[in-house]
Amino acid sequence: MQPDMEPDMELDIDEIIKKLSVVQEGDLKLYTYSPDDFSDGGSMLTKSMPVFYNPIQELNRSITLIAYKAYQEEHMANHPEVPLKILDSMAASGIRSLRLTLFLTKPHEIFANDLSPLALSLIRKNMELNSISTQIETTNKDCNLLMSEWGTSHRFSHIIDLDPFGTPNYFIPNAVRSVSNGGLLGVTATDTPVLFGVRPSACLRKYNVTALRSSFCKEVGLRILLHYIAKQAHPWMRYIEPVMALSFDHYVRVFVRIRKGKEGITSNFKNFGYILWCPHCDWRDSIHLNIFDANSQCPLCHSKVKFGGPLWIGKLHENDFVLKCSEIAENCTKQTIPSKKRIVKTLNYLPHENQMPLGYFNIHKICDRLQISVSSMEKIERAIIAEGFNYSRTHIEPHAIKSNIDIPSLSRILHALTKE
Ligand SMILES: C[S@@+](CC[C@H](N)C(=O)[O-])C[C@H]1O[C@@H](n2cnc3c(N)ncnc32)[C@H](O)[C@@H]1O
Ligand SMILES: [Zn+2]
Repeated sequence: MQPDMEPDMELDIDEIIKKLSVVQEGDLKLYTYSPDDFSDGGSMLTKSMPVFYNPIQELNRSITLIAYKAYQEEHMANHPEVPLKILDSMAASGIRSLRLTLFLTKPHEIFANDLSPLALSLIRKNMELNSISTQIETTNKDCNLLMSEWGTSHRFSHIIDLDPFGTPNYFIPNAVRSVSNGGLLGVTATDTPVLFGVRPSACLRKYNVTALRSSFCKEVGLRILLHYIAKQAHPWMRYIEPVMALSFDHYVRVFVRIRKGKEGITSNFKNFGYILWCPHCDWRDSIHLNIFDANSQCPLCHSKVKFGGPLWIGKLHENDFVLKCSEIAENCTKQTIPSKKRIVKTLNYLPHENQMPLGYFNIHKICDRLQISVSSMEKIERAIIAEGFNYSRTHIEPHAIKSNIDIPSLSRILHALTKE
């Protein structure tokens, strides 16, 4: 149970659903409380919603459908006789499990679990509403207990989905042990101020690392979460392979393959390190594990550098997996995947950003610092490539780029473009 969570009261679900509205997300109809009654005034919802449903998270759910279908295709090729087993460990209204049921190839075994009895009753009503009463098993347990029981009794799940309100940190140790060897773990974290370095002491407490509030902090946040998942897997003789790591609006979402084996654990360590960043001139670098090998002075402007870590400094995506996701997304209708356009665009960026050095350059922030106007992204791209550097956009921020360019050359190019 999340530490500050209240147990639900005994409630009559038939009376309750009379007061709920029915919304549509993708191909699914859903009984839900009205998010407007529980918003903080912006796009964030408060925990007071009796059963959680955030329409903004449609993107999270839709990309999850695509990632799990890509995984299912691999799974069916390798184990055609074994139905894919998925645990939606924190199902709330059941929307994720229900959309998965409609989307994935059958047969599959989906378990929708939530600690809240009210959520469970609502999941069952939502199953009835969509005439899929028998295709999902529902459970009403603390998912830490459930995953630990499954791990202990070797009833592994091919996919486990963690979608908490806030940090996922205390669910990860049990999740990594109860995914099957080669299985997939999907994790949401909405505690972005912690991961992005706005609350460094909370980051130390929750993820045991030094946060870094840098100009590319959203990528740093992904790397902190991946490092944490890997560290929790190691005691179980397991290691991680990130297949897709995404940062959207107010949350991050990572998909990692979990495998067993000592060699893999050792190779995970090759992907652990620190990021160094100069707050004065935006210089950045990464180093493998020994922070004492790092310079404490920026080699360009001699200011004191900041560091973050230990964190994941390896690749964030697996290109073959991303390409499979792109194919699936292209073939979906907008009806089934409402945010298809944004997903296709995101997936197109990933293989390119994956080839680039760590970090990104936020063009607006650099131009602000240089006190110059911002040129178009197309002009910037042409100028960088013309000088022989590589270039990619990033899904993380619309006005950011990834490149092997150094910051003095980038500043010079941005200056020159303003004079054209
Ligand atoms: C953010 S909501 C999940 C949203 C849902 N996955 C979706 O896509 O709409 C988090 C859910 O986790 C449930 N929860 C919190 N602690 C839990 C625990 N220890 N075990 C199982 N469920 C838990 C809450 O009741 C809540 O319904
Ligand atoms: Zn510097």
